[in-house]
Amino acid sequence: MKRLTVHASREYDVLVGRDLLNRAGDLAREALKKSGGRVMLVSEDRVAPLYLERATESFSAAGFSVFTYVFEAGESSKNMNTLAGLLNRMAEVPMTRSDFVVALGGGVVGDLAGFAASVYARGIRFVQIPTTLLAMVDASVGGKTAVDLPAGKNMAGTFWQPSLVICDLDLLDTLPGETFRCGVAEIIKYAFIGDRELYDHLCQSLTDHLEWIVARSVADKRDLVEADERDTGARQLLNLGHTIGHAVERCSDFRIPHGDAVAIGMHRITSAAVKKGRCDRNVLVCLDALLDRYGLPKSAGFDADSLTQAALGDKKRQGDSITLVLPCGMCKSERMAVPVGELRDWIAAGGDAEE
Ligand SMILES: NC(=O)c1ccc[n+]([C@@H]2O[C@H](COP(=O)([O-])OP(=O)(O)OC[C@H]3O[C@@H](n4cnc5c(N)ncnc54)[C@H](O)[C@@H]3O)[C@@H](O)[C@H]2O)c1
Ligand SMILES: [Zn+2]
Repeated sequence: MKRLTVHASREYDVLVGRDLLNRAGDLAREALKKSGGRVMLVSEDRVAPLYLERATESFSAAGFSVFTYVFEAGESSKNMNTLAGLLNRMAEVPMTRSDFVVALGGGVVGDLAGFAASVYARGIRFVQIPTTLLAMVDASVGGKTAVDLPAGKNMAGTFWQPSLVICDLDLLDTLPGETFRCGVAEIIKYAFIGDRELYDHLCQSLTDHLEWIVARSVADKRDLVEADERDTGARQLLNLGHTIGHAVERCSDFRIPHGDAVAIGMHRITSAAVKKGRCDRNVLVCLDALLDRYGLPKSAGFDADSLTQAALGDKKRQGDSITLVLPCGMCKSERMAVPVGELRDWIAAGGDAEE
């Protein structure tokens, strides 16, 4: 098992290894220095049949009284109604400020349960047990919580760091290939932001080095979160491929999954950087080879006008400029503020001949 410590507004460990769910109760008792009391285990109805019973047993055996809240799987549940349902359930128990929440699921569960923990009784602690690769390497670390509003994704949320993150790689065995692939896109992102060693491991074998690769991705995210917890500077590098990626998601009415959209976004922004002479063509060749190898797409066929329009609805737009993350060398990226009026030109520059 690997243990990484995140030094943010709260200090906490991220554990990466195998057979950890069965020990989750003990690990939480140790990390939170708390024995007894109540735990609200939050999950959704695709993950719960697979892992909720084991999680419940583990926390009960560690001496906690376990309560559960299970909602319908999917992004469409990440909303104010589900949040209110969870908060009311916590009040019914009733949970006190010394009790804690456990999120057992992918990013949807983590974002929602984290949000509930951050506002219930003005904030109680929570533990993340991510069950998707994307949640392990991205969503569960860094303290962003959110629900979606009709006006857009993640429009309401808080910064609230977990007290412990337990990444049990065995839980990935049941993950559909398409969902696994989405996590790989974010890992490739860390490599091209600035981690050559991670890139080398991805070129060898993901499955052979899974523990190392997940821990390394968490470490990469941790470093950026520690440098800029509130996402006003260096943390924005995590948006590599995301400005165009979010636009691809919107243009497809969210039928294209996030990881696939990020892959398309990374390919397109790297192509643009190459075309504009800011990055060596070899970087694009290496990126494309990895995307191909892991079955990730490079294009969805949307034209520059539609993508630009969708991108300008993005909350990352600040005033008259938009911050793009551009690859500027092999496993090296930089932020660049681009006037809103020039965004279309960048998106068009990364376009494929098929358009
Ligand atoms: N907070 C952050 O920093 C952050 C970062 C990235 C993404 N996110 C959020 O995370 C969400 C996406 O996360 P996700 O991709 O994990 O989505 P998800 O939680 O919807 O999970 C994807 C699918 O996998 C299923 N699933 C989960 N674990 C499984 C398992 N072990 N076996 C079988 N099936 C399983 C789920 O039921 C779901 O159908 C989005 O809402 C996004 O906004 C948050
Ligand atoms: Zn992402």
